[in-house]
Amino acid sequence: MECEREVRRRLREAGQEQLLRFWDELGSGQREGLLGELRLLDARELRDHCSRAQHAYERESSAPQRLDDRMRPVPAEFMGSVRRSHPEERRAWEEEGYRQISQNKVAVLLLAGGQGTRLGVTYPKGMYNVGLPSGKTLYQIQAERILRLQRLAGDKHSVQCTVPWYIMTSEFTLDPTQRFFEEHNFFGIDRADVVMFEQRMLPAVGFDGRAILERKDKVAMAPDGNGGLYRALADNRILEDLEARGICYIHVYCVDNILVKMADPMFVGFCVSKGADCGAKVVEKAYPSEPVGVVCQVDGVYQVVEYSEISPDTAEKRNPDGSLTYNAGSICNHFFTLDFLKNMAGTLGERLGYHVAIKKVPYVDEEGNLVKPTRPNGIKMEKFVFDVFQFANNFVAFEVVREEEFSPLKNADTADKDTPSTARRSLLWQHYRWALRAGAKFTDAEGCAIEEGSRVSEAEDPPVICEISPLISYFGEGLDLHLSKKEISSPFILDVQKV
Ligand code: UTP
Repeated sequence: MECEREVRRRLREAGQEQLLRFWDELGSGQREGLLGELRLLDARELRDHCSRAQHAYERESSAPQRLDDRMRPVPAEFMGSVRRSHPEERRAWEEEGYRQISQNKVAVLLLAGGQGTRLGVTYPKGMYNVGLPSGKTLYQIQAERILRLQRLAGDKHSVQCTVPWYIMTSEFTLDPTQRFFEEHNFFGIDRADVVMFEQRMLPAVGFDGRAILERKDKVAMAPDGNGGLYRALADNRILEDLEARGICYIHVYCVDNILVKMADPMFVGFCVSKGADCGAKVVEKAYPSEPVGVVCQVDGVYQVVEYSEISPDTAEKRNPDGSLTYNAGSICNHFFTLDFLKNMAGTLGERLGYHVAIKKVPYVDEEGNLVKPTRPNGIKMEKFVFDVFQFANNFVAFEVVREEEFSPLKNADTADKDTPSTARRSLLWQHYRWALRAGAKFTDAEGCAIEEGSRVSEAEDPPVICEISPLISYFGEGLDLHLSKKEISSPFILDVQKV
């Protein structure tokens, strides 16, 4: 039991000996499992982590720090917009993006290590089916967008090209994600072009500064936030893989946005044309007090400022044209050059601070009973992917239209926003708009025409349920061929087998 003594000594040093309080009750297999977990925790790091979590929690419980006086919006010359930029410029950016993609210089990187606690499913969010007529999951939709984009860029430049897909997972999501991709034959993507890797985990900490046991023989661990990306890139030698493939530009995005336009050529082309090392897609805030982070400068460096860090007066501030001054809502959709990521995966990334997430963490009580708390009881420390903006030498932001590009799946259907229903509707409304634009004629079950004027609110399903496979159209392009003057009755699925 030399090993136990050594681990116990280290825990004592870290002030976390309670993690072994059920030791005497454990069988030998359980003891081995727990020791294996605890051996990975360095005493000093564990002590620092727990006290950092406790202090951050105490700070968080006091009034938030306001940043109003130190903030400036993103200057106009570093902003592009799908609506406001000149059409010629937009076309040129898009062309540039396609050119880069066709030369195999662009990769997509999915952040999929989250636990999805608000959605409340036991499997990775990417495997979620929001109830589309096709039954497609988020992973499948994304895979098909990649396939289509490769085809579009390749056709434009008469080449075959690849957009490799890097997927950051965690202890929770790696195995099920791998299995899911295997079961679905990687959705038709060459498996060599899908690279999964795992981020690190950190112990969840109670409000008293003590790490939590989720079972008698298991520490409650949580992924280290989507900003754990930078360390995970180094841990897993992903930068070497990117380099070996000749990738220069990486589009990083979240798993839960059903409308995500992966490796969007216009966004990529905009960032490349501006010589940016780091870029963010943003949407206009829906209303001044919308609780979204805003991309802006603080003391001259870029960051995402949380709504709680801005006073209502600043949130309401308007430009002479009536638009909100702090209007650039962050949608976790980023562009990085490989060189920038290399810097972040080194010492700069280590300098990123932690954010506090107060969560419900299942635990064993003093009597050894398993408790599922009804109220938050634990602190998870997370890094955020966008905290690297401060290190950018040339940061740009690109404004897109929310209805076309942002509808996240965060909550179960009992909530009123960001649910499976809202995600499904966003996609179906988008496809309905595409079909209308392509000249489709909609009819009801009796064959009578459904007038376009019979629009209902986008809070409900569109008048016609029409789902278009990403394999056919990445972003509404090329649909005239399939839908012009075509009579469509609900529900209609346009997919490859049916073409
Ligand atoms: P969220 O912050 O919405 O977290 O993640 P979540 O885990 O999906 O959901 P909740 O908060 O538990 O309900 C935004 C994106 O960042 C990824 C998620 O997978 C999602 O794509 N993420 C989050 C990670 O990759 N790793 C993490 O440690 C946390």
